[in-house]
Amino acid sequence: MLVSSKSFFPLMKITELADLESLSDDEIKLRWEAAYLRFETPEEETRKFSERLHKLGVADWSRNLEVVEIFCGRGNGLNALQKLGFTRLSGVDLSPELVAQYTGPAEMFIADCRKLPFADNSRDGVIVQGGLHHLLEIPEDLDRVLSEVCRILRPGGKFVMVEPWLTPFLSAAHSASKVKIFKAAYPKLDALAAMIHYEAPTYTRWLESKAEILQLLSDKFISLHLKQGSGKISFVGSPK
Ligand SMILES: C[S@@+](CC[C@H](N)C(=O)[O-])C[C@H]1O[C@@H](n2cnc3c(N)ncnc32)[C@H](O)[C@@H]1O
Repeated sequence: MLVSSKSFFPLMKITELADLESLSDDEIKLRWEAAYLRFETPEEETRKFSERLHKLGVADWSRNLEVVEIFCGRGNGLNALQKLGFTRLSGVDLSPELVAQYTGPAEMFIADCRKLPFADNSRDGVIVQGGLHHLLEIPEDLDRVLSEVCRILRPGGKFVMVEPWLTPFLSAAHSASKVKIFKAAYPKLDALAAMIHYEAPTYTRWLESKAEILQLLSDKFISLHLKQGSGKISFVGSPK
């Protein structure tokens, strides 16, 4: 629901955030998805994902490889991979509503990423961009997802992960997203505040679990790249 900001920006609106206790799980999910769809246009998200894929070396992979985007949502990560020339693509996400928005050629699966719908040793690359922080239990659920990633990757296959990470930049963004006048001035900040509010239980647990997350990554993968900065962790590894 939108309410008018009565201060300096009479034409701007900010999102009224409902108490999580007053909402059903479905209502929380719908409100999160609405904020997510406002946060970035598909074009902006696809451009962001393309830049990341270049930075993380995916643009150098053979275009014949079979690649899965897990927690793929509306599929903009798949769109970025398609733009790079990959054709053997699959996507997995729990939300039929978000998956229905994908119109590309990848094979799509509505499934829980804690149990991936692929055979052992059947994929060359698995990518996740902003999905793992939606898991309810850390480290248990993360352990399940990463074990599944290792199970479906062929020997030498690669796992690519980009997720939120508590750095000074992210703390500053959190603080800014609580200031009404900033939210009224920047609709993207308003959408971010709503996303954070409705995903708070999992998002907060994820941000507080740095040590467990790094431990699981090092237990399961040979690290090829690890960077923590600007509110993100990016990781590329091969199963041990
Ligand atoms: C921030 S979105 C990811 C955005 C996505 N990278 C894109 O390109 O649209 C997080 C996604 O995780 C999905 N999700 C949450 N828990 C999941 C689970 N256990 N298995 C599969 N998908 C899940 C949500 O439905 C949501 O689409």
